[in-house]
Amino acid sequence: MKRGLCPGTFDPVTSGHLDIIERAAALFDETLVGVAVSPDKGGGPLFSVDQRVALIEEATQHLPNVFVQPFDTLLVDFAKREGATVIIKGLRAVTDFEREFQMAALNWRLDSKIETMFIMAIPEYMYLSSSAVKEIARHGGSVRGLVPDNVAVALERALGAR
Ligand code: PNS
Repeated sequence: MKRGLCPGTFDPVTSGHLDIIERAAALFDETLVGVAVSPDKGGGPLFSVDQRVALIEEATQHLPNVFVQPFDTLLVDFAKREGATVIIKGLRAVTDFEREFQMAALNWRLDSKIETMFIMAIPEYMYLSSSAVKEIARHGGSVRGLVPDNVAVALERALGAR
């Protein structure tokens, strides 16, 4: 049985993330979505780790081979503990490449048995990010379609998005 791991901060999960998770779910017997606690990222996440996990669980209800767990360790240690052999990351524009290249190389250095695989974002989601979604929401713009419906509702509650 092959288990893949889609890691991220997911603050919050976007339609672009969901597309990558769906495509990973079609490639692996099981796909684990690993939600990094990431307390330091960008002044702290908007949503707590439990909220981020719950939002992804709701948004992936249609995917029976996807499950979600938080983690607060090195990614390779989490992968090993959960029996995942492949890390799957989405790649958007070239701007992602430098950072993802560094993480893949360091993860390989930490544990060369764990492979990193990249899935290209579809053009519609190439420029979508959690931070852009939060910025739109903070200014009262519509995030419908950019995030799963349940996330749009959560953003509305948290930031007053439409
Ligand atoms: O949503 P992001 O910011 O792209 O996710 C980054 C994440 C959570 C995958 C990355 O920060 C991570 O792997 N964190 C766990 C700590 C770790 O293993 N760091 C070493 C990898 S270079």
